[in-house]
Amino acid sequence: MADLSPEARAAEMLELARAAMARAYAPYSRFAVGAVVRGESGALYAGCNVENAAFPLGCCAEASAISTLIMAGERRIIEVLVVGKGPALVSPCGGCRQRLCEFADDATPVHICDPDGMRRTVTLGELLPLSFGPANLSA
Ligand code: THU
Repeated sequence: MADLSPEARAAEMLELARAAMARAYAPYSRFAVGAVVRGESGALYAGCNVENAAFPLGCCAEASAISTLIMAGERRIIEVLVVGKGPALVSPCGGCRQRLCEFADDATPVHICDPDGMRRTVTLGELLPLSFGPANLSA
């Protein structure tokens, strides 16, 4: 990872996220999402949304990617990428911002993409200002 430029790293993430998006199970919304999180080790973990006939039980792509990172034994997220189609930015939902906050920092970059490429990069702190996170419970 160290020898790749930030652009090349993001391109690698987008490729994985697009492949994840292609595996989404989204028969109800018909809105496929792919997400990739990078762990502290530099390794990438992908996820897609998985819906359910009992609608609230559906799982977002970010949640699925985070579970894979945790399952691999990692605990920190240093970069995030989300991809989905459509004119509106596919930015992580409120619940996923909180999920990311558990394992990432305010400065962690979140790349918002469509299948053609990067649309915008923001930080998690911009997406979830004044967050309530692990630090609130550590005292
Ligand atoms: N979705 C995600 O996977 N991530 C988000 O951050 C936004 C929404 C999914 C949930 C549902 O399966 C579909 O997109 C439509 O809301």
